[in-house]
Amino acid sequence: RGQFTDKLRVPEALTFDDVLLRPKESRVEPDEADVSTRVSTNVEVNVPILSAAMDTVTESEMAIAMARQGGLGVLHRNLDVDEAAAEVERVKRADELVIRDVVTADPDQTVREVDTMMERKGVSGAPVTDEEGDVLGIISGTDIRPYLEVGESDEVREAMTDEVVTAGEDVTAREALELMYEHKIERVPIVDDDGHLTGLVTMQGILQRREYGNAARDEGGHLRVGVAVGPFETDRAVTVDEAGADVLFIDCAHAHNLNVIDGAREIQESVEADVVVGNVGTREAAEDVVDFADGIKVGIGPGSICTTRVVSGAGMPQITAIAEVADVAADEDVPVIADGGIRYSGDAIKAIAAGADAVMLGSYFAGTDEAPGRVITVDGKKYKQYRGMGSVGAMQSGDGDRYLKDEPDEDEEYVPEGVEAAEPYKGSLESELHQLVGGMQSGMGYVGAETIPAFKQRSEFVRVSSAGQTEGHPHDVMITDEAPNYSPSE
Ligand code: XMP
Repeated sequence: RGQFTDKLRVPEALTFDDVLLRPKESRVEPDEADVSTRVSTNVEVNVPILSAAMDTVTESEMAIAMARQGGLGVLHRNLDVDEAAAEVERVKRADELVIRDVVTADPDQTVREVDTMMERKGVSGAPVTDEEGDVLGIISGTDIRPYLEVGESDEVREAMTDEVVTAGEDVTAREALELMYEHKIERVPIVDDDGHLTGLVTMQGILQRREYGNAARDEGGHLRVGVAVGPFETDRAVTVDEAGADVLFIDCAHAHNLNVIDGAREIQESVEADVVVGNVGTREAAEDVVDFADGIKVGIGPGSICTTRVVSGAGMPQITAIAEVADVAADEDVPVIADGGIRYSGDAIKAIAAGADAVMLGSYFAGTDEAPGRVITVDGKKYKQYRGMGSVGAMQSGDGDRYLKDEPDEDEEYVPEGVEAAEPYKGSLESELHQLVGGMQSGMGYVGAETIPAFKQRSEFVRVSSAGQTEGHPHDVMITDEAPNYSPSE
């Protein structure tokens, strides 16, 4: 025995396919399982799912769709800082009760002019204001219609409804609806104490919010959004924080680098948003960040497009990584996010059993309509591009910072830790999430746990042999119809 042969007495590290949940006595109907959780100390979501901060997965369209469905989108950081802030604002404005950039009309415009303007801006009504911003009236399609043939050069002040029902800044959706019902109207201008227009509440806006009853919203009713920032990007962090980000994610492939931890700590001290630190994959790393992190993200090389483990020889199989980090985080009540490697809903709920509070997925969502990029067709099959943020293409669009690498000189090549790929086109995010959440709830039903915290306590694993693994997939048959949640090629 010696120093190096001792090194070969290695501890076992497991991943998703190595384990299964042990079925337990249950009265829990899967549909009733409550999947709400925390992604960070101060931010709750209604489904325990995040979309990855990757330039082929999450921009504002994905973030809006994720939050409407109850989860959280994390905007990637291959955007310049101003564009990142604008993306945050887009999410925050998406389902606003009070619309802020209100389209207004002048009283002395002609009816024709206003009609054209409203059509161009895609609105069906507009408050009419004077130069001070006082609300003089309101004009809608119903007011305009009788003028279109014969009176289209009449002034707006003629056509508008001049008895306007307004409300103050603190109006609630319920109060606005009551006003609309009482006065048979569809729009309520919001005014400040001096009677100046500050916003608009519309019936259409209220109905849209109702459609997403399970949405993840902040205290002001705006959709939640996460943003990835580099560990040394304090300026970006402050800018997106001021733009309204709820959670910042330190975006680094190896957060147990002490310089990264210093940077993350500085960012945490500079912003109001929660700061999730990652990625890590060991107990020791968790111990070094748990005192200041509002959440810890786990994953060293499990991702579908990752080559970190083969390129660097380093990594941690994901179930063991989650469990090591969660042991430390649970003592301090800090949420854990499992990031990468999830192919099926069963993997996602196993990650929770191993100690995660929520899961982050990239490839699962990259084929949906809401992911950036267009649909391409190869041999008659539809795909969308999906690439690692450590791939050559993604590093050329942004930088190699996530992988702690400097930009190479002109005559040098990148040393990538990811590949560029394509994902089968999948249609809407909503149906993908439906399958993912439904499968996770099914797992909760098998274990007999009605909530995520209860499931984390009650679940147990059994070890699976390779024969057991084969048994667990469809076998000895020819699959004739594709299931919405299982693809044999995955
Ligand atoms: P999935 O398996 O859901 O994984 O597609 C998404 C996660 O993978 C990480 N990621 C990378 N890891 N090289 C890596 O080693 C890369 O180029 C790369 N790009 C993304 C990231 O944590 C993401 O959330």
